[in-house]
Amino acid sequence: MSLWSLLSSQVWSPGFVLLILVFLLRLNVRLRYRCQLWDLQHCPTDLTGKTAVVTGANSGIGKVVSQELARRGARVILACRSHERGQRALDEIQAASRDACLLLGEVDLSSMASVRNFARWLLQECPEIHLLVNNAAVCGIPKTLSSEGLEFTFATNYVGPFLLTNLLRGALQRAGSARVINLSSSWHIHGYFDEEHLTGAGRPLTFNQNYYCSKLLLTSITGEFARRLQGTGVTVNSVDPGVVYTGIIKEFSWFYRVTFWLWSFFIRDPTEGANPVLYLSLEKEVDGISGKYFSNSCVITPPAKAAQDPYVAQSLWNATIKLTNLDLMD
Ligand SMILES: NC(=O)c1ccc[n+]([C@@H]2O[C@H](COP(=O)([O-])OP(=O)(O)OC[C@H]3O[C@@H](n4cnc5c(N)ncnc54)[C@H](OP(=O)(O)O)[C@@H]3O)[C@@H](O)[C@H]2O)c1
Repeated sequence: MSLWSLLSSQVWSPGFVLLILVFLLRLNVRLRYRCQLWDLQHCPTDLTGKTAVVTGANSGIGKVVSQELARRGARVILACRSHERGQRALDEIQAASRDACLLLGEVDLSSMASVRNFARWLLQECPEIHLLVNNAAVCGIPKTLSSEGLEFTFATNYVGPFLLTNLLRGALQRAGSARVINLSSSWHIHGYFDEEHLTGAGRPLTFNQNYYCSKLLLTSITGEFARRLQGTGVTVNSVDPGVVYTGIIKEFSWFYRVTFWLWSFFIRDPTEGANPVLYLSLEKEVDGISGKYFSNSCVITPPAKAAQDPYVAQSLWNATIKLTNLDLMD
């Protein structure tokens, strides 16, 4: 068949051309991501004898991260809010790597009481913690107040990780050298500071702004944790995993979920989204680096201006210490 007759044949219907274009575009996107990703396969870090805690480990990025840490010999605590979903993830990871040392812990990060119970149990099981990945988060939930008087999205995405990190501080320090990784989002730049949001008050928030603001607070407090933990061997950084096709928008309307599914051809999958988190967990060159925000291509990047202000972070710290009653603990 000559080239001309091939090009003019019926095969080239608009639908077929569109399909090829989508395929080429997807190929292009995948190759571009491949170039941005850190080379996980060639990282020799072995985690035998280390303990890692991953919140929201039953799905998406958290599950991939947990699986890789376990594959490298770490004892991994899967911190999940649902026993059933957590057990399912544990079974899957165990089936993928038979020697994996996994422990399931139940925690609802939106509840300070639950975080305290979890931390109490965890500290009995693991007196030393080498890695804490604050991964769990919710998105797309309209303003809701928890029974403890906290706004649900802020409670889950910011107050829970803040309290957990503080309660595990001793175990992190005992490890000699430990890393804390906070999952932020590039969307934090659309957030703004208002401490009153934590209790559901403050300036009104437009659609999904509670998510953006909660990530802004988490990014800001990362710097404050780093300043306070300087010289203890514990580093604290935040990272943007990129736009990743996971269950993160499960609370959105069907319209957004369908759009996200269509978009999924052009965005990262959970393995690609886990890559920058694993970079911060495993890479030797990150040793000693603290208080930074890493982009989804593993580069230290300035976060939103508001998240760089140490006075804002300090005020946020004081407000959250009060809110979580940590001031009464010392
Ligand atoms: N996907 C993206 O495009 C994207 C972009 C930027 C940042 N991120 C960040 O990446 C992290 C991981 O998200 P993902 O994309 O992997 O989404 P995901 O699959 O929905 O994972 C979120 C995890 O958090 C858990 N979780 C939610 N609320 C919780 C609570 N109150 N207590 C304990 N666990 C809770 C969920 O558990 P259940 O299964 O029980 O709900 C789930 O395991 C999040 O911090 C997210 O903000 C994601």
